[in-house]
Amino acid sequence: MKVKIKDKDFDIFLTDKEIETAVSTLAKKINTDYTDKDPLLVAVLNGSFIFCADLIRHLNFDPEISFTKLASYQGSESTGKVNELIGLTEDIKGRHILIVEDIIDTGNTLEKIIKILNEKEVASVEIVSLLFKSEVYKKKTPVRYFGLDIPNKFVIGYGLDYDGRGRSLRHIYQIAEG
Ligand code: IMP
Repeated sequence: MKVKIKDKDFDIFLTDKEIETAVSTLAKKINTDYTDKDPLLVAVLNGSFIFCADLIRHLNFDPEISFTKLASYQGSESTGKVNELIGLTEDIKGRHILIVEDIIDTGNTLEKIIKILNEKEVASVEIVSLLFKSEVYKKKTPVRYFGLDIPNKFVIGYGLDYDGRGRSLRHIYQIAEG
């Protein structure tokens, strides 16, 4: 199966069934580790909305969820670039945080988010990502929960976009060679 989004061709990479299996396996691990911790799920927009919606319906507890987005702006000369988590209004001090991501690539976004969360004196921070490009990831923070380790190729579907499109595709597609 192929799809064309704008100028690019994509081949099927993971079917909806395979995604469902990965999500349910991840949820089982989180159920085991977090039932008694009342974690706050911090879902990073835009891409994670579909994964997060499916993940929470596989959990055996009712989690609190905050949808956030990382914004970077230029502060004063002394503060330099400032990163902010838009939408995270909850008091998170002392909470166990699970960051929900669609995909971890270089980990640059993640590193900034973790820094902000740790400044707010959270009890713990772990990452749940459906996809993980481990060959690209060079950061020290371990990605504790990931669904599938995938090669370094651009993927779309199931919330992931190419230039704003492709998020509604049920399967995940990988950019075609050549
Ligand atoms: P990182 O900061 O390089 O880890 O990239 C994180 C963000 O880049 C993800 O949350 C996605 O929004 C986007 N991204 C990285 N790789 C892909 C991809 O293959 N397809 C679509 N979006 C991607």
